Amino acid sequence: MEVRTLTAGTRVGGTFSFVADPFEVVEVTVEATFPLRRRVLRSDRVDLDLRMPDDAVDGAFHLAIFGADGEAVGVATAMPAEPPFDAEPPAWRIRQMAVDPAVQGTGIGAALFDAVVQHIRERRGATVWAESRDSSVGFYLAQGMSVVAGRAHRAGGVDYTDVVMRLGRSEDRQPL
Ligand SMILES: CC(C)(COP(=O)(O)OP(=O)(O)OC[C@H]1O[C@@H](n2cnc3c(N)ncnc32)[C@H](O)[C@@H]1OP(=O)(O)O)[C@@H](O)C(=O)NCCC(=O)NCCS
Repeated sequence: MEVRTLTAGTRVGGTFSFVADPFEVVEVTVEATFPLRRRVLRSDRVDLDLRMPDDAVDGAFHLAIFGADGEAVGVATAMPAEPPFDAEPPAWRIRQMAVDPAVQGTGIGAALFDAVVQHIRERRGATVWAESRDSSVGFYLAQGMSVVAGRAHRAGGVDYTDVVMRLGRSEDRQPL
């Protein structure tokens, strides 16, 4: 999968053909993720800042897939972060993954996930983890991650479960 570095708002593609495989995943500024973060993850929490302290962690990166109209249809962020459970370091955390509801279920999330893992492999990460909304755990399991025992919790009225994947040297995913 091609991963290019673009600045926020850069238009990608000539037609509205993002549902074609493979998707083009591009690296973007954190600001380019804000519209989807707001619409998909924060629509009922306008009090929360879209910019997270974790966005400023050294090494944090942001990936997006754009529709031909120049709007992001999928975004994901990852940063170095040791998890609150035992895992092989160095560990990276996936955060604020969001796909436009109009095109959820078409493979955009999986394409973003693959690109995130590719970036983390290139940075020699050994573990990828996320604090998943319970409603999205099935997505992470479909990507090869595993539920972390004893890490179900509730915050801000939302149920979460931690998920994790150990990255091997090969391209094969190796669930814990
Ligand atoms: C979770 C999310 C990022 C997945 O993106 P997506 O583009 O819809 O997912 P894909 O189409 O790439 O699906 C990939 C696989 O995951 C499965 N899947 C996707 N969402 C799922 C869900 N909520 N529950 C169970 N399985 C799911 C798909 O069926 C597919 O399975 P397959 O490989 O066997 O065909 C997206 O639905 C979303 O933005 N949800 C709302 C925000 C959210 O919860 N984000 C995660 C924060 S922790």
